[in-house]
Amino acid sequence: MEFYDLIRKRKMVRAFRPDPIPDDSLARILDAAQRAPSAGHSQGQRFIVIQDETRKAKIAENCNERMYTAAGYAPFISGAPVLIIPCTNEQIYRRRYREKDKLLPDGSEFVWPAPYWYMDIGCSVMNILLAAVEEGLAAGFACFSDNPALRELLGIPEEVEPMGAIPIGYAAPDQTSPSQWREKSKDIIRFERW
Ligand SMILES: Cc1cc2nc3c(=O)[nH]c(=O)nc-3n(C[C@H](O)[C@H](O)[C@H](O)COP(=O)(O)O)c2cc1C
Repeated sequence: MEFYDLIRKRKMVRAFRPDPIPDDSLARILDAAQRAPSAGHSQGQRFIVIQDETRKAKIAENCNERMYTAAGYAPFISGAPVLIIPCTNEQIYRRRYREKDKLLPDGSEFVWPAPYWYMDIGCSVMNILLAAVEEGLAAGFACFSDNPALRELLGIPEEVEPMGAIPIGYAAPDQTSPSQWREKSKDIIRFERW
């Protein structure tokens, strides 16, 4: 698909058909996830792919799926054929920036202007969302209600921080999200100065 059409077509979908997604589509989506930039080429992004029904149901519970279905949405977390859990790891960045080529001239660690480990996983997530559309699929996002329980469920190590669940599948008829309005460009973009 043409790039700007792809961007305009992407939206968070909250209803999926149960049909499985092709393995090669999933492989390309995961490749896209790994093609995102990372500060200092730290590559601290990690992804857990979930297809097991019981595990999906437990994740859906953690994401309060019942709250969505009570509001009229489909069970879009347990009902998606695939969930991807994007994770970040601040310590990978800290270790990378303690390497020789990254230390400041006085030998001290870079002063982080922003937590780039969150920026980088956001870049990966966007690649996943766009790649899903390119594959003729759709994707959404749901946050967890209980991160410690999620860690326990998936055996996520202490250093690794899960961001949420990205359900992916073929879009089913969806309830329109109430948040489809967009801020005006003039309120978002500034030129030269704030
Ligand atoms: C960091 C982040 C967290 C989000 N969390 C949720 C969520 O928990 N549940 C949900 O249904 N949508 C969630 N969304 C989707 C947003 O509601 C959605 O992106 C926004 O309303 C704009 O709609 P669009 O992405 O379809 O353009 C999240 C999006 C982002 C980027």
